[in-house]
Amino acid sequence: MQKTPKRYLITAALPYANGPLHIGHLAGVYVPADVYVRYLKGRGRDVIWICGSDEHGVPITIRAQKEGCSPQEVVDKYHALIKKSFEDFGIEFSIYSRTSKPIHYQTAQEFFLKLYESGVFVEQESDQYFDPEANQFLADRYISGTCPHCQNPNAYGDQCERCGTSLNATDLINPKSTISGAKPILKKTKHWYLPLDKYQPFLENWILKEHPEWKVNVLGQCRSWFDAGLHPRAVSRDLPWGVPVPLEGAEGKVLYVWFDAPIGYISATKELTPDWETYWKSEDTKMVHFIGKDNIVFHCIVFPTMLHAHGGYILPDNVPANEFLNLEGEKLSTSRNWAVWLHEYLEEFPGKQDALRYALMANLPETKDNDFTWKDFQTRNNSELVGILGNFFNRAVVLAEKYFEATVPQPSGLDAEETELLEQIPRQREAIAEAIEAYRFRDALKEYMQLARLGNKYLADREPWKVIKTDKERVAGIVYVALQLAGALAVLGRPFLPFAVRKMEAMLQLPTTTWDELTTTVLSAGHKLGVSALLFERIEDAVIEAQVARLQRNAEENAKKSMAENAVAEPAKPDVSFEQFEAMDLRVATILEAERIPKTQKLLKLLVDTGIDQRTIVSGIAEYFPPESLIGKRVTIIVNLAPRKIKGVESHGMLLFAQSADGVLHIMSPEGETENGNQIG
Ligand code: MF3
Ligand code: ZN
Repeated sequence: MQKTPKRYLITAALPYANGPLHIGHLAGVYVPADVYVRYLKGRGRDVIWICGSDEHGVPITIRAQKEGCSPQEVVDKYHALIKKSFEDFGIEFSIYSRTSKPIHYQTAQEFFLKLYESGVFVEQESDQYFDPEANQFLADRYISGTCPHCQNPNAYGDQCERCGTSLNATDLINPKSTISGAKPILKKTKHWYLPLDKYQPFLENWILKEHPEWKVNVLGQCRSWFDAGLHPRAVSRDLPWGVPVPLEGAEGKVLYVWFDAPIGYISATKELTPDWETYWKSEDTKMVHFIGKDNIVFHCIVFPTMLHAHGGYILPDNVPANEFLNLEGEKLSTSRNWAVWLHEYLEEFPGKQDALRYALMANLPETKDNDFTWKDFQTRNNSELVGILGNFFNRAVVLAEKYFEATVPQPSGLDAEETELLEQIPRQREAIAEAIEAYRFRDALKEYMQLARLGNKYLADREPWKVIKTDKERVAGIVYVALQLAGALAVLGRPFLPFAVRKMEAMLQLPTTTWDELTTTVLSAGHKLGVSALLFERIEDAVIEAQVARLQRNAEENAKKSMAENAVAEPAKPDVSFEQFEAMDLRVATILEAERIPKTQKLLKLLVDTGIDQRTIVSGIAEYFPPESLIGKRVTIIVNLAPRKIKGVESHGMLLFAQSADGVLHIMSPEGETENGNQIG
């Protein structure tokens, strides 16, 4: 058994202030952290919980460019929106700060300088793309070009979104700056690197030897980083947005966002309390970082290395990272607008924060990616919150109201089963505590609901509404027991369902019983209750169907919008001579027959009347046109392209198509009166 730490420093990943929060944020990070913190506070532990907006980095400048405003305007807007969503969902940090504050600039720069002066960094020059028109270096995201793997003309310098390959900007064919459209040039630039390779032995020892208890998914990622071998990482960037590198001759350079952001945890603590050093530097503080899996390397490897190299700071005791939450079977995506946004949820389901919190808690992606569906949300709400928890709690209170004037009755003796049932209260408390302390929040919630299930079964078995006709004294015992369970559900529900618990407490007029004070007697006989009210409401099918439809609609609208935005024409290819052009023989033709080439996805075998002859052409268009739709179509073709064998079929020529930004092919048909064999030129 671990002994109780003196104090806790809990951090939750600082969300990028470049968009609103969605359910993935809640499930990955903030709901589990909130359960943990509420639990600790409920047990009277000394705990601070740190969060704030991450306001630097390229995604923010990209968003600004898209919305046609300044990065400052972007972060101001989303910081306010995000902060409000947290408040609305009962996520109560000790402080919600932001990395644009002066105290953060100062803290981050001091941290950098300390490492610089201790000789921790390695300085290195490299070639980077530079936009000669905008006169600035280009982050990978600011370069677009043709993907060398799939020929997508709109791939980014870090990734091709069509084929999913991650790229280096220098891999792109025909790169261009997305800021000015100019062709970027390579230019030398100097940066500071954190030599993670040197710290690998220290990290391996700390993580693998000292923390075998960390979650399997977290250890797994760390191990694969170690196996691949750590490399130095640049901690500076050539960007106009960020915390300036505090060195002479470093004009135009800022700290890499992943260097400054985690230091944001420290700056926010400084802002919160003059006692910040006790939390960050005392060995009897337990520090826990709540994050999503995409942040593991930064919180388990990069930031600990920074803290260690700096000296004087403690390292995290645990980093309970979650996997990802999907939505209706697909990856959540801000750019595709495939998400349930928190502020929109609250417009649709006012007052139903706990319904969402509950559905997310029950589906936390703790060990693997998990799926949120609206149907499951409805079932969780209707069958579990309404059907089990609400049903039991309300029956207990209503029985007391109806038969005992809303007072806890004096029982005249409990039978063995009832005594046993009440003894289940402290047992469930221990089970919940154990699960929470081990970061198994789904299990904790299950143990909690178990108590409500037992209560329901108890009432169903004992049927007080029948017994009342013959034996009111017995009913006093039943209602007494039910109310003790209801009281326990209020006390033990505090980490999970803060909004419902407030109602429960009002209905029970619950005395200020703490988690640790909870026993088999929560409410003594004679205690006066409040007024009964519904805890949870059913959610009807129509409401759920409307949400699913809205999701589809949003995604479709978004696809149309981004298609229009991306519809920039490709720059022209290099010149060809008139003779080269003349050498091509282009003709009007008609498709006579079309059939799929077996065992291929894309290929059609076409018989075409060229006016000169009838010939076979193989065309990779099967995904766009059903064969029968092509028969009789007037087309344009190149007739003197050298024959090629494709999948065993010899192709004599090529059809011409235009491809629009959405990837769809359009047949180039001649207009007006033309005949097969007419020349084009
Ligand atoms: N903004 C990052 C993200 O959303 C998280 C930053 S966490 C911090 O993925 F530690 F760097 F602050
Ligand atoms: Zn590609």
